[in-house]
Amino acid sequence: MDMDKLVSLCKRRGFLFQSSEIYGGFNGFWDYGPLGVELKRNVKEAWWHDMVSGHDELSQLPGAPSTFDMAGLDCTIIMHPQVWKCSGHYDLFHDFMVDCKESKKRYRFDQLYVVRLEVTPKFSTNPEISKRAEFGEYWTTLAATPDEQKADVYKRAGGKLSIRSKNVDEAFKISDVKKLPDLLKQGVTLADVIGPDVNGAGSLTEPREFNLMFKTIVGALGGDDDAAFLRPETAQGIFVNFKNVIDSSRVKVPVGIAQIGKSFRNEITPRNFTFRSREFEQMEIEFFCKPESSQAWYTYWRNRRYQWYLDLGLPRERLQLREHHAEELSHYSTGTADIEYAFPFLPAGEFGELEGVAHRGDFDLRSHMEGKLNPETRPLQVELGPDGKPKHRGSGKDLSYYDDQAKERFIPHVIEPSAGADRATLAFLCEAYHEDTAPDENGKPQERVVLKLHPRLAPIKAAVLPLVKKDGMPEAAQKIYRALKKQFNAFYDDGGAVGRRYRRQDEIGTPYCITVDGQTLTDGTVTVRDRDSLKQWRIKADDCPAEITKLVKGE
Ligand code: GAP
Repeated sequence: MDMDKLVSLCKRRGFLFQSSEIYGGFNGFWDYGPLGVELKRNVKEAWWHDMVSGHDELSQLPGAPSTFDMAGLDCTIIMHPQVWKCSGHYDLFHDFMVDCKESKKRYRFDQLYVVRLEVTPKFSTNPEISKRAEFGEYWTTLAATPDEQKADVYKRAGGKLSIRSKNVDEAFKISDVKKLPDLLKQGVTLADVIGPDVNGAGSLTEPREFNLMFKTIVGALGGDDDAAFLRPETAQGIFVNFKNVIDSSRVKVPVGIAQIGKSFRNEITPRNFTFRSREFEQMEIEFFCKPESSQAWYTYWRNRRYQWYLDLGLPRERLQLREHHAEELSHYSTGTADIEYAFPFLPAGEFGELEGVAHRGDFDLRSHMEGKLNPETRPLQVELGPDGKPKHRGSGKDLSYYDDQAKERFIPHVIEPSAGADRATLAFLCEAYHEDTAPDENGKPQERVVLKLHPRLAPIKAAVLPLVKKDGMPEAAQKIYRALKKQFNAFYDDGGAVGRRYRRQDEIGTPYCITVDGQTLTDGTVTVRDRDSLKQWRIKADDCPAEITKLVKGE
């Protein structure tokens, strides 16, 4: 799938726009247009329904160790600064970055690829470039796929080289592609590396740590002591409210507390459309359980969350469940798995994270009770500052749980399925994009772009189309449209040839088109057309709301 085509469709049909576009855009921020907002809401509503509001706490679900409760929450984005000190984000939520002294740009150290550029001397009119290539300088690039890397380095070096286009491959060769950190491990120094936006080596600084939390000031007189942070994850709001939820609701451990909301990270190199943004939405569950059953719950959530994406249309061959190796795990974690999708902007065979499912032990609740725990020690110990006192004090509140049936008190262990709403939306869009042919009104095959979105996710569930704008057809179609609108998002369109109207709906993923024709006026039936199979069948006009609702739900 060509990503540029999807990006262009998203803009043209109102799924996604660059934020502040009339001012040239703002890197790492995206706006959802009229169709995009419906699609993303449907993703979030499917998640909320399937995980929270539709949860059946009376039955033991397949694969679950027991019955369990679920509850929802909606916390503030700005929280007490101590939350982030105890969670570890203040000290540890860093990425390494390198600056370029020449271009004044900043890059994430682990996202820079380096390539060796080899130039055949007879094609170079610039001895400087030939010499550099001969001495084995490395060009860095942000491009992810080998073809894009080649194109990027050609473009930058090509300006100084005289080559005939047909000889490009003969003139340039690219070899030794690797990530910058791996290159430096081999003893190459940054003095030999050419930055991604310049043509000469030696402008990149040594990697430095950079905290990803956005800082803000609270209060009119605010100085640095009043600094607060925009949350980088929704999870901490759940941990600090654990006691409130238990004390105020009738839920009991095992219980999952769920939240959907905005998170903010000052990503150094936001990229790949909405995949890595600076403002995004998360859909997180913190699932609190007894320590001894936590491993079984971990397995349950990992499998259930993987299945959720399959059920909504991501195919097994492009969706993987990847268990982290022991060396990738935090000390407090006994298991983490990523659910990953083969996004089309990644090199073949590579997958990008949609969701992480982590076993977090009692790390978070204990940190908020006692003070920040040292994630490097086992057993976990409160981290001490140079003065021997706790580095970041906890709340001092008792966040343990009393099980009144077993008559025991414990600090629950936590399983955390943490998903990104924007990444899920993007994956569903990528998977949905197809180009094929469909017959027009004369039966002639016409090329079409079609978004084969799962009907639950489709922004518009049905379009109502009068065949012609006369003979009472528009009136009959409008009546159906109004009845549908009471149930879900429907669309009325009477402009242009019906084939063209079908294709407009196909392009935005509308699963069903209802056509009102001459027969409707005599027997009260309409045609339903299925977007994917292109099958058409007749139903009673009055049955449309119930029939389409059933089809959308897959009943
Ligand atoms: N509470 C755990 C947590 O936040 P994470 O792996 O950092 O874990 C969870 O984030 C999910 O949030 C990711 O799997 C991804 O879907 C989404 N996410 C994280 N950073 C993102 C970004 N910069 N842009 C878009 N989505 C992001």
